[in-house]
Amino acid sequence: MSTAYEAFQVFEQEATAAIEAARNVADLEQVRILFLGKSKGRLKDLQSELGKATPAERPAIGQAFNDMKLRVTQLFDARVEVLSRPESQPRDFDVTLPGNLPRLGREHPITQTIEEFKEIIGRFGFTVDDGPELEDEYHNFDALNIPKDHPARDPLDNFYLAAAKTANGQPILLRSQTSTVQIRVMERTKPPVRIVSVGRVYRPDEIDRTHHQMFHQMEGLMVGEGVTMATLKSVLKMFAAAYLGEDVEIRFRPSFFPFTEPSVEVDVRWRDGWLELGGAGMVDPQVLENVGYDPETITGFAFGLGIARFCMLRHGIDDIRLFYENDLRFLKQF
Ligand code: PHE
Repeated sequence: MSTAYEAFQVFEQEATAAIEAARNVADLEQVRILFLGKSKGRLKDLQSELGKATPAERPAIGQAFNDMKLRVTQLFDARVEVLSRPESQPRDFDVTLPGNLPRLGREHPITQTIEEFKEIIGRFGFTVDDGPELEDEYHNFDALNIPKDHPARDPLDNFYLAAAKTANGQPILLRSQTSTVQIRVMERTKPPVRIVSVGRVYRPDEIDRTHHQMFHQMEGLMVGEGVTMATLKSVLKMFAAAYLGEDVEIRFRPSFFPFTEPSVEVDVRWRDGWLELGGAGMVDPQVLENVGYDPETITGFAFGLGIARFCMLRHGIDDIRLFYENDLRFLKQF
């Protein structure tokens, strides 16, 4: 009864070839009707071979038929699965046309600057810490030795929250400086301290080329035994040189902040003059006492630098507003 086995083999080869040649689901459907169709499919004809077998031959032939049928249907089902996938659907466009490059996002220039700042200052052993943008008066002013009648507390110079107070009844404001983080860090750590904190600060200033109502500062704080003004100057000089280039010219100008003594303003040579980068100084002994440190045994320095100013200097950008307008033509250049 070799003819039945031969017929099975021929069927399997042809069905396999047809299934593999199908390019889409519609082709496959034709293959199914032709080979496996319930009414007129060739598989049905083959079944009649079974009828011709003698009772003794029938089990072996039946088994061979079933095995073959299973292989063909499995192949068929697998092919249906593949050709139904979205990527297998026919394309009605010319794949040789030049493509459109997807527009990739990138980090905002301020974010890029912040990342670089952290990396540079990390080389001097500073770790990164953080504090809240919504602050109470104590951390924004009192602990920083800013007297109750100081003009910096003027409601017109700050963004106070009209409707919210702390649990103990203190007014809350959007922090006007990152110096708040000095206090928060010293409150929760023992000296020595060597941290920076980068973040947004808020002041209702007149907006112009160099001022915005929200901007980014990097606060630095180093407290321990033997920390001096000379340490402060070398750290800031090395930091500026690392970011702006070795030939950068830095100047320290006497100034005043209630929380540092002595205090300086840090300027950098820019075009024909000087541009202010931020403030700095030796942490006032009163501030050390406010956080429970002993000003007799330890000293410290602090600085607060405007992030955008550095980025503007490096890239020759002359208007801080560009950073906050989200104009892609500007942002794409970084
Ligand atoms: N907080 C000050 C400001 O925003 C800057 C500063 C920080 C000055 C640390 C001294 C020490 O202007």
